[in-house]
Amino acid sequence: MARVYETDDWNQYRMDYGQPHKALEPIENEIAVVDGALRVLCEEGVLPHARYDHAKMLAHRAAVRDLFEIPWTAITPRMQRLLYAVSAIRQPANLIAAGVFCGNTFISSAGAAVGPGACYTATNLIGVEIKPEEAARAERNVRRLDPTGVARVVAADAVDVVRDFNGPLHLLYLDADGDKGRGKGIYLEILQAGHDRLPPGAVVLAHNSVNCAERMKHYLDFVRNPSMMRASVNVIFDSEGLECSVR
Ligand SMILES: C[S@@+](CC[C@H](N)C(=O)[O-])C[C@H]1O[C@@H](n2cnc3c(N)ncnc32)[C@H](O)[C@@H]1O
Repeated sequence: MARVYETDDWNQYRMDYGQPHKALEPIENEIAVVDGALRVLCEEGVLPHARYDHAKMLAHRAAVRDLFEIPWTAITPRMQRLLYAVSAIRQPANLIAAGVFCGNTFISSAGAAVGPGACYTATNLIGVEIKPEEAARAERNVRRLDPTGVARVVAADAVDVVRDFNGPLHLLYLDADGDKGRGKGIYLEILQAGHDRLPPGAVVLAHNSVNCAERMKHYLDFVRNPSMMRASVNVIFDSEGLECSVR
């Protein structure tokens, strides 16, 4: 069974999907809630420590606010901070984010290596979006924040991109909602396409572990099986949730 990190207020902490930059609570609360999640991730061995640069996180947040076109997003400020922190701590050389829509989720992770929130140097930061027009918007957004091209968005099926990626995958972020009736069930397909290239310590993050838990059942069974992933923590601090697993 996975360890659960759950706050008392997760079901009351709600965002307006059309107002991604609106503060939902005092910043001290947000930091404390995310610190609580990072502590549990450390205790379970998902992360080696819980330290990250808070000023750089806020510089990243400001750049996204100023540079990104976001029609809607379900990434709460707590989730944005956690995604940034996990990347800043784990420092993945190679990262693939699957199902990035306008790029907001992807840059929450990739922003620890590019733009004003950068705190390390990465090799490949790849966002994958199957809808060409959404991928084009995400790529435009990411280019404004990262002129270097280390972070980039490709229009493709994430199953293919993960399967064909040549090298170790240090961080895999799953958020594709699948076409052809696959829905969030596609998470397992994407993970299995790259499971053999996850080195020890590789982190896999799956959005919607709360509101899509039923649809993700096979995925959650897989990552909570210690013979497949060493540990897994369900972070429940908003109504979406994030399953954080380590190889
Ligand atoms: C629900 S959105 C993610 C939005 C994100 N949670 C946010 O709040 O910003 C899921 C995205 O996955 C994309 N998608 C679906 N199947 C995919 C696949 N096989 N590969 C890549 N992207 C996919 C969809 O086109 C959609 O843009």
